Amino acid sequence: MKFYITTPIYYVNDIPHIGHSYTTIAADILARWKRLNGFDVYFLTGTDEHGTKIAQAAKEKGKTPQELCDEMSEKFKEAWKLLNITNDDFIRTTEKRQEYTVQTIAQALFDKKLIFKNKYEALYCVGCEKFLAEKDLDENGCCPDHKTKPVLQSEENYFFKLSSFQDELLERITNAAHKQHIEIQPEERRNEIVGKIKLGLEDISISRTAVDWGIHLPFDKEQTAYVWIDALINYITGVGYPDNKEMFEKYWPADVHLMAKDILWFHSVIWPAVLMGAGLATPKKVYSHGFFTLNGSKMSKTLGNVISPQELVEKFGVDAARYLAVSLIPFGPDGDISWTGLTLKYNVDLANNLGNLISRTIKMAEKYFDLKVPQCSPDFELAKKTAKILEDDFTPAINNLYFHKAAQALQNAVTTVNQQIENDAPWKLAKTDPEKLPACIYSYLQAADLIAIHLLAFMPETAEKIWSVCAAQENIEETAKKYFKDKIIPEKGFSVSGAQLQQAQVLFPRIIAEEKK
Ligand code: MSP
Repeated sequence: MKFYITTPIYYVNDIPHIGHSYTTIAADILARWKRLNGFDVYFLTGTDEHGTKIAQAAKEKGKTPQELCDEMSEKFKEAWKLLNITNDDFIRTTEKRQEYTVQTIAQALFDKKLIFKNKYEALYCVGCEKFLAEKDLDENGCCPDHKTKPVLQSEENYFFKLSSFQDELLERITNAAHKQHIEIQPEERRNEIVGKIKLGLEDISISRTAVDWGIHLPFDKEQTAYVWIDALINYITGVGYPDNKEMFEKYWPADVHLMAKDILWFHSVIWPAVLMGAGLATPKKVYSHGFFTLNGSKMSKTLGNVISPQELVEKFGVDAARYLAVSLIPFGPDGDISWTGLTLKYNVDLANNLGNLISRTIKMAEKYFDLKVPQCSPDFELAKKTAKILEDDFTPAINNLYFHKAAQALQNAVTTVNQQIENDAPWKLAKTDPEKLPACIYSYLQAADLIAIHLLAFMPETAEKIWSVCAAQENIEETAKKYFKDKIIPEKGFSVSGAQLQQAQVLFPRIIAEEKK
């Protein structure tokens, strides 16, 4: 079973921020989860490096475009390393392999007469890298996103016959029984896309003459491929198209392309049409999440209000940063975040709930059992109760990419164990019924181990720590894989009686909330 997952390739004229991190962390969680469930996963991310915007940004900095791209793609790589992202490859559109694939696809479409030359004149926004219609402009005649006046551009471009794919696209998107069904999520966004396709698809320009920083078309060296065509093709280059047939046949089509709503149209309409034109399979799922705002306003480098992955990790640590990024707002709609909100969630979910569960369990084991897993006949009742919550709520949520719901299910599991501890009140039992103590502490440890297994995809380092502090046997990943396959708790439990526990460490120290300027 294979699973091919991608993030957008990010523009190198911006620094990586929490928005890019959001998509990439979500993709990483899913990639890790699928690996733990026995899938042969391929996870691709990368950077989008061609076009006027990049060439201009380089000029402003007194660099060559290549220098800027080299420098900035490194920043994305560093950010993903910092966030513990397990991508299998990092693709850059300025690589030779990408040039080769783009030229191969362009030639194939040209040979099939799906690309033709035409004169084009329209208002072009450099910031958006696209032509804008009069109706798209604001009251000052400017691009509403960039607040700059678009320039009138007229040139002979190559066009792709997008219009001829209208019916087949609608069929693949709306008919779930189609062999090549393209599932678009969430539902409301899918409906918007379907509505827009029904209004009619126009042929689109796919090349430029004035943009030198790009991939030259094989049949007309005067023209370069328009950034979007170049960019989308990364998804097949990344799995070996056209020369590595074995790899391509193994992983293509993508199981899920992940992105925000801003680029859903390109991924669910233009990209599948290009693939159909080239005679290739279309992606199985295109999933778009919402947009983050920070304290109510759009994040932008110029406004200086971006949160960088470094800042997040500095304040909360890597695992908490990963957890908070995907659990703060529902995955799908837009949402607003703030440092205060992040800190609050950190304290409630991680310091108070999860951190507290581990530290109190270990402290009790230390006080009453000399820091050993107590000797008793295995009691799995609490672990089974925890397993049921995770099975009913966590697994379906993560499989459907509802990361915030999966995080909530983890919290519910932790709360259940914390409540059981309150009900048992082992500190009282120690005086009244000491013979009941071993089974109680043993059961908390088993439940904590089970939670650790489910935490692996979200918070890999924390899961490992809990696993070793609680003296769980074997390797956590192997145990998790086995558990997810047959859902059976090992006969003697994950933490075996008599095993040496480790001193309680503070997993998540409490943080005082303060809004960063
Ligand atoms: N280069 C194109 C994508 C080509 S993919 C073939 C591009 N790059 S981008 O750098 O602008 O990245 C856009 C993506 O970054 C969004 O779709 C989303 O995944 C992520 N995000 C950037 N800012 C974001 C928010 N404020 N909120 C949520 N996600 C955001 O478009």
